[in-house]
Amino acid sequence: MAVLDLLATLVVFLGLAQLGKTQPGPYPGQIKNLVTFGDSYSDVYVPGDNATAWPVYAAMYGDFTLYPFARSGATCSNYLTYKPYPSVFESQLPLYFTEKYNGSLELNPNDTIYTLWIGTNDVGVNALLTGSQTPGVTLVNTITCAVDWVRVLYTSGARNFIVQNMLPLQDTILYSANSYYNRYWTAQRNSTEWNVFMTELTNTGNDLSRLMLQALAPTMEGAHLGVFDSYGLISDVRANPQNYLNGTAPLNVTGCINSCIYELNESTSATGDCTIAEGTARDSFLWYDELHPSEQTDRVIAREISAAIVNTGDNGTSWPTYAAMYGDFALYPYAKAGATCSNYLTPRLYPSVFESQLPLYFTEKLNGSLELDPTDTIYTLWIGTNDVGVGELITGQQNPGVTLVDTIGCAVEWMLPLQDTILYSTYSYPNRYWTEQRNTTEWNVFMTEMTNTGNALSHAILQSLAPTLEGAHLGYFDSYGLISNIRTFPQDYLNGTVPYNLTGCINS
Ligand SMILES: *[C@@H]1O[C@H](CO)[C@@H](O)[C@H](O)[C@H]1NC(C)=O
Ligand SMILES: *[C@@H]1O[C@H](CO)[C@@H](O)[C@H](O)[C@H]1NC(C)=O
Ligand SMILES: *[C@@H]1O[C@H](CO)[C@@H](O)[C@H](O)[C@H]1NC(C)=O
Ligand SMILES: *[C@@H]1O[C@H](CO)[C@@H](O)[C@H](O)[C@H]1NC(C)=O
Ligand SMILES: *[C@@H]1O[C@H](CO)[C@@H](O)[C@H](O)[C@H]1NC(C)=O
Ligand SMILES: *[C@@H]1O[C@H](CO)[C@@H](O)[C@H](O)[C@H]1NC(C)=O
Ligand SMILES: *[C@@H]1O[C@H](CO)[C@@H](O)[C@H](O)[C@H]1NC(C)=O
Ligand SMILES: *[C@@H]1O[C@H](CO)[C@@H](O)[C@H](O)[C@H]1NC(C)=O
Ligand SMILES: *[C@@H]1O[C@H](CO)[C@@H](O)[C@H](O)[C@H]1NC(C)=O
Ligand SMILES: *[C@@H]1O[C@H](CO)[C@@H](O)[C@H](O)[C@H]1NC(C)=O
Ligand SMILES: *[C@@H]1O[C@H](CO)[C@@H](O)[C@H](O)[C@H]1NC(C)=O
Ligand SMILES: *[C@@H]1O[C@H](CO)[C@@H](O)[C@H](O)[C@H]1NC(C)=O
Repeated sequence: MAVLDLLATLVVFLGLAQLGKTQPGPYPGQIKNLVTFGDSYSDVYVPGDNATAWPVYAAMYGDFTLYPFARSGATCSNYLTYKPYPSVFESQLPLYFTEKYNGSLELNPNDTIYTLWIGTNDVGVNALLTGSQTPGVTLVNTITCAVDWVRVLYTSGARNFIVQNMLPLQDTILYSANSYYNRYWTAQRNSTEWNVFMTELTNTGNDLSRLMLQALAPTMEGAHLGVFDSYGLISDVRANPQNYLNGTAPLNVTGCINSCIYELNESTSATGDCTIAEGTARDSFLWYDELHPSEQTDRVIAREISAAIVNTGDNGTSWPTYAAMYGDFALYPYAKAGATCSNYLTPRLYPSVFESQLPLYFTEKLNGSLELDPTDTIYTLWIGTNDVGVGELITGQQNPGVTLVDTIGCAVEWMLPLQDTILYSTYSYPNRYWTEQRNTTEWNVFMTEMTNTGNALSHAILQSLAPTLEGAHLGYFDSYGLISNIRTFPQDYLNGTVPYNLTGCINS
């Protein structure tokens, strides 16, 4: 079905490509703990970006408690590809199980997600690429090992998993065709051949891993398993750096922050001839050094992964899919969970309407990949829930001086009666969206003001805007009125088999 294909291609960079229709991701707000396994890409103690590793940012963005087990230099198993570092199977998992069974680590499987990002050391120099593995070992064993990580943790009770696939290692300086001798390799080699071989290893490895995980998923009852497409994300950063990098130097996806050129056969413990970018210029780089992503790239990874885990939504099919089905429309969905109207007003780490959704729409329109006849196309916007809610206007965390008027000026659409949601009702309980102390009466009063004022304001702004839009049809959908009506006349709308419930929720 075309609509679903389109949805699927748009969520690729959001990461959690669900394996198997019967096992969707964790429900919104379910996950509280993030347990990470892997190598220097995820090591928070000796971070590969010499700054702050992605798990720290992901925990911050998604409000998770972090349990970091990933260690620099790690391979999946030292029995396959030996490195004198703490591998996943001989060190990271044993430490995790020791802490689990001696009681120092107590994690409820329901609200804990486990991630693994491995492969960089397994397939690279002094391993598969240079034929330095245990004799007989191939990429198949390496990938099987990563899949076994899921199996082992599932058997021990874990239920939520994300496997991060390999990024395009052939695009790191170490493995690129125009490479120079560097801290990771100073011996003679044919960099063209390395680049070709590495392209095969990452592509084949990632495909194999996806297929094996796809086969494993249906056998794991009650589990959620996702693949995070690091390869696709980093490729997109290379192709469209302006969407991700924000440093003050020219954007740079081929060099690195900390570049050191060595002589042929020079000792790798020498320092080399270094060029080091400082300060705000650093955020212009995709790579930190010849092998590791930069801190800004790590922020991007963290943002995408935490958005995929938080998975804000209704845990079902969203209304645009139904609307397209009922009305027989082709659907072009740009809405994204977590969005506000503009991050300049109410900053959140999600793709906002003005800084992300509209730019994407216009890019596609201008480059010809989106061709829509204005006369048979209708545009909708439903925004405001995140702009006025927790972390923003209601808790005073918006940018200084920003008020509801700015938010409404940005959006001009109606909000539903948010004060009637459980989160903002007077009889509210501590819940997945807010557990800190607050005065529920005041929140309810404030929210009633914000939705009513906001809607009146948007009505007025739209009314004055309409006459200036020649040839256009502009309507407002009264979400506020509809939801209020459902509360008053539930029998006209709800059709489940238990008594109507207007104050509780399905997933309380
Ligand atoms: C690594 O990080 C330290 C501490 O922030 C900083 O002083 C140093 O300049 C960084 N080195 C490089 C090469 O980026
Ligand atoms: C549990 O094991 C870990 C790892 O060996 C150790 O650091 C910790 O002190 C142990 N805790 C208890 C309560 O024995
Ligand atoms: C996890 O969730 C399931 C289903 O909601 C529930 O039956 C189970 O008791 C929960 N387990 C724990 C340890 O909270
Ligand atoms: C490096 O490998 C490529 C591809 O196999 C080959 O065309 C090229 O001649 C090699 N270069 C050297 C210097 O051996
Ligand atoms: C780039 O954006 C990140 C947030 O993603 C921010 O923390 C960082 O300070 C920005 N860098 C610069 C140089 O503005
Ligand atoms: C990118 O960074 C490298 C340093 O690693 C530098 O040599 C190169 O000139 C930079 N390229 C651009 C386009 O700025
Ligand atoms: C580099 O080392 C290799 C292997 O030890 C040797 O064959 C080669 O002659 C050396 N090249 C130079 C320029 O030192
Ligand atoms: C989310 O949806 C799945 C599949 O439709 C269902 O099995 C699960 O119980 C739902 N979870 C919640 C919390 O509603
Ligand atoms: C148009 O831009 C979008 C978004 O950047 C991109 O995904 C698509 O491949 C581009 N299409 C063409 C034909 O360039
Ligand atoms: C909560 O706010 C209401 C309205 O301002 C006030 O009447 C009430 O005393 C407050 N309750 C607490 C516990 O502060
Ligand atoms: C309620 O009505 C919808 C159509 O609006 C239908 O798809 C759904 O199956 C009905 N639910 C029940 C429990 O009958
Ligand atoms: C409505 O659902 C809530 C659970 O969210 C439950 O506690 C409450 O008893 C239900 N009320 C009615 C009238 O069934």
